[in-house]
Amino acid sequence: MFTPLEKFSNNNPESSSYRVSLTGLTLGNVRLSSRCILAPMAGITSLPFRVINRSYGCGCAFLEMINARSLSYLSRQTREMLRTDDRDRPLGIQLLGSEPRFLLKALERLKEYPFDMLDFNAGCPKKKVLARGEGADLLKEPGRLRELLRLLVRHSHVPVTVKIRSGWDSPEGLGDLVRSLEDTGISAITVHGRTAVQGFRGRVDYRAIKTVKGAVAVPVIASGDIFSAQMAKKMFDETGCDAVMVARGAWGNPWIFTQIHAVLEGSAEPALPDIEEVVGVLKEHFRSCLAFYGAARGVVRFRKFYIWYTRGFSHVRSLRSAVKYAKNESEMMDLIEQFRLTGCRQTCCKKME
Ligand SMILES: Cc1cc2nc3c(=O)[nH]c(=O)nc-3n(C[C@H](O)[C@H](O)[C@H](O)COP(=O)(O)O)c2cc1C
Repeated sequence: MFTPLEKFSNNNPESSSYRVSLTGLTLGNVRLSSRCILAPMAGITSLPFRVINRSYGCGCAFLEMINARSLSYLSRQTREMLRTDDRDRPLGIQLLGSEPRFLLKALERLKEYPFDMLDFNAGCPKKKVLARGEGADLLKEPGRLRELLRLLVRHSHVPVTVKIRSGWDSPEGLGDLVRSLEDTGISAITVHGRTAVQGFRGRVDYRAIKTVKGAVAVPVIASGDIFSAQMAKKMFDETGCDAVMVARGAWGNPWIFTQIHAVLEGSAEPALPDIEEVVGVLKEHFRSCLAFYGAARGVVRFRKFYIWYTRGFSHVRSLRSAVKYAKNESEMMDLIEQFRLTGCRQTCCKKME
């Protein structure tokens, strides 16, 4: 069993030499190489995105949520979501659902696929998900959530984890809730420190995550507002969590993993990548989108990533507007090349002024 003190290089998290050891976290029987995990994100965390982030140190990644019902029918779109390869481990699949028969069918289907963990989504606040009694709606019915988790733990051949919000509309009773979820045999709890009603508004509630950590013995993964290495450190410091989950902070910024590692190990934060390195990653990510989605869809899927990678650079406004009209590989490559020639880090322009 993991105790918080084992991860500290000394036993005093308040001391200035406080560091978090990055290794040593085990979820069920899965040993992670790092305590920085890539979050599940619908429409974003497909294989190309996961592989890029892994190459910068992300220790574990999750597929976007997959509805148990569609998994049981295994549509073309679902098969595409499930695509993975040897570079992509350890890997978690996330299931969304509320009907036992579909969850069981989904587990049956998943036997053919290589993955290491099964996460259950009890945190999605989308209206259409809530209307089906799934995602965060289950936080209103803890008994039902426990039953579903018990079912998954009993029938899954890999460790089961759950991802929750810090409550439905308030963190009241959160400690009791997570203790009762732990009793189902799950191997970890991820908590996004905002309530379901909050959605993505407001700041992450560190106190709520700390409550979860204090209530259970299984590892607690903290999610919410990890936009920089300093914010990751703040999350460890304030909550005592066992790992952090990076979501929007990784958009166009796989370097965040390297930066978090450096800061947690007590080293200086590495400088931001120069434009050549950003262009190199842009090209690599684009090529893997083409290979994954095919030429036409690959270009469309890549547009938002272009916008994200070019954030923080000046002289690129017109390129960022033009990308929504890029129709094929050569037009996208041309925009990447123009970015290389004209883009300039905003900080470096300010220095020159
Ligand atoms: C576009 C988008 C899609 C998301 N999809 C999922 C999902 O499929 N499953 C899930 O559990 N959480 C999902 N999330 C929530 C994230 O995993 C994460 O908990 C949340 O964004 C908070 O982290 P952040 O403030 O660092 O972005 C999604 C978030 C975003 C922004």
